[in-house]
Amino acid sequence: MDHLAFDDFPDGLIVAGPDGRVTYVNERVRKLARAEGDEMIGMPLAEAMPFDDLNGHTWMECVRPYDGLNTRSAILEQSWYSPRGSEYLITASLKRDRPGGRVQQVVIGIRSARVRNRHDRERSDLVATVAHELRSPLTGIKGFTSTLLTKWDRFTDEQRQFMLETVDAEADRLTRLIIDLLDAARIDSGRLTLKRGPVRLDELTERVLRSISAAGSEPSWRMDIGAVQTVWGDEDRLVQVFTNLAENAMRHGHGLRRVEVVEAEREGVHGVRVRMCDRGPGIPPEARQRVFSRFWRSGPGAGSGLGMYIVGGIVTQHGGLVDIDDAAGGGAQIDVWLPVNEPEALRDGDDRGSVIGSGTTRG
Ligand SMILES: Nc1ncnc2c1ncn2[C@@H]1O[C@H](COP(=O)(O)OP(=O)(O)OP(=O)(O)O)[C@@H](O)[C@H]1O
Ligand SMILES: [Mg+2]
Repeated sequence: MDHLAFDDFPDGLIVAGPDGRVTYVNERVRKLARAEGDEMIGMPLAEAMPFDDLNGHTWMECVRPYDGLNTRSAILEQSWYSPRGSEYLITASLKRDRPGGRVQQVVIGIRSARVRNRHDRERSDLVATVAHELRSPLTGIKGFTSTLLTKWDRFTDEQRQFMLETVDAEADRLTRLIIDLLDAARIDSGRLTLKRGPVRLDELTERVLRSISAAGSEPSWRMDIGAVQTVWGDEDRLVQVFTNLAENAMRHGHGLRRVEVVEAEREGVHGVRVRMCDRGPGIPPEARQRVFSRFWRSGPGAGSGLGMYIVGGIVTQHGGLVDIDDAAGGGAQIDVWLPVNEPEALRDGDDRGSVIGSGTTRG
């Protein structure tokens, strides 16, 4: 067996023979034990495995790899502590000369628990943040419903109407938040799948902006559109991207000033760039990376901080890029660049009707 390859293995490996003495250690173990060369070969396994459970019980005493049930062939992963106090996840496999026979070889894997611990911590932070996000709209809902239930007669019709409208709006907010959380979880786990078809980005952007301005005031931005702008992407997901960006421009950027849709090449790849410039304070350079993190938000209009995380996730999944800059004349300038991604079938003139058909009937 080529043991040299195991020296590059990121986890520690220790092999011991039938007499309980070490026959092989890889480089990771030598580093951990601060041992040189063949120093550890022939060492009793108990000495080579100085890990304990913080109550003074050592790995060897607890696991007893050479004793115990004679059908045992593996020792499941458990966490143990090195003499220096670091946590490790240790597993082992036991090789016997025949089923039920004596243990001939013990192979031990030692992995640092640092990464797992960080993931655990991140996960519980995430649960706490999500719970907190869900609680605030619920507090509003509960407050008004219980007031209405107990003190119905004390309010005028207008007051009741107002409370119910608030409850309704908070329930909508909760629904939106849950949809965003589910999308964020999809992006996190790489399960965001795209239903691609041809998407006219100029039309899509206009549609998104019209629906947003209908909810608010008169549109006051200028729209510049280059030639026909079609990319192959997921229309619903792209609506989500530009809705989030336009909402940000309204909420954090004092309204849109200019929208531009043009063809743009990037490192030789043919694509389309949608640029949105607003009238606000802009996004400071030190925050330009951070806005793409989950739950990062700041300032008076801040929401849940999931918007840009989802924007980044969807655009990346399309093979595109988002750039944040200062707009000429002030405000934030957000560029979304998407590659055209034309399916090969079309580029080669290979007429596979289903691809074209499904695309054109959608739009
Ligand atoms: N156009 C902009 N101008 C200035 N600041 C912005 C702009 N867009 C985003 N930001 C800043 O980036 C933060 C993160 O944006 P993001 O869209 O992720 O979250 P949000 O808008 O606060 O909440 P959500 O979109 O989840 O409702 C915002 O809180 C805001 O501080
Ligand atoms: Mg937002």
